[in-house]
Amino acid sequence: MTAISIRTLQTMKQEQQRFSVLTAYDATFAQLAADAGIEVLLVGDSLGMVVQGQSSTVPVSLEHMVYHTAAVALGNARAARPALVMTDLPFMTYGDVATGVASARAVMQAGAHMVKVEGDDWLVPLVASLAQQGVPVCAHLGLTPQSVNKFGGYRVQGRDDAKADAMVEHAKALANAGADIILLECVPSALAARITEHVNVPVIGIGAGGQTDAQVLVCYDMLGLNTGHTPKFVKNFMIDGRTVPEALKAYANEVREGVFPALEHGFA
Ligand code: KIV
Repeated sequence: MTAISIRTLQTMKQEQQRFSVLTAYDATFAQLAADAGIEVLLVGDSLGMVVQGQSSTVPVSLEHMVYHTAAVALGNARAARPALVMTDLPFMTYGDVATGVASARAVMQAGAHMVKVEGDDWLVPLVASLAQQGVPVCAHLGLTPQSVNKFGGYRVQGRDDAKADAMVEHAKALANAGADIILLECVPSALAARITEHVNVPVIGIGAGGQTDAQVLVCYDMLGLNTGHTPKFVKNFMIDGRTVPEALKAYANEVREGVFPALEHGFA
């Protein structure tokens, strides 16, 4: 079967077919997730919290991301239908265009097919430069965990009208600059639906309701392996005696069929 590419995801948006995204940090999990039909593997800097035990993603380095991207890329290549591998550029490795381009080069050469960066319209010059150089980009808006210290905690973003309107404009500006995907984290479901309608690139949501083109979860969370507070947007798929591959397939199917996320997983 043909590997998933950015064109596959664009076509899926045009045809209104939802796709699923899951974090992966190692080869075994990457292969299992791709074999379960998950379209995008996100080598998320959430690995700082769930793999390394840090209290935020801030301590994650570019070297960590390169290491985990290489492992995920090798596992993914063994799958029957390889997924698209998207890697986070970690905290303060893309503050200016030259630094961001060098960081993107490192993870792309380790096996990523796409990079993800957190921020709003200040990212436009970097996104444009990466697009010109052939690097697909996902722009992450809303709750951007690398800014947790600035936010003063993990809070829903875009709740008031002015901030919601600004987020719509930022999403449009990033898509116009060349971003291939927008990711929205912890934003009201109605705002996520509005952004999904107003941009012509796929929109992935997490804590963003059921109207986006795709959904992402952290793999440990959907396997019921989180040890602290369970966020509202998480669903445990490791139920009814399922094996891990069965739970992964259930997640992919529920996203595809619009069953997950349900109303209770979103924010009003
Ligand atoms: O790092 C990560 O896992 C992420 C997702 C939560 C979207 O950015």
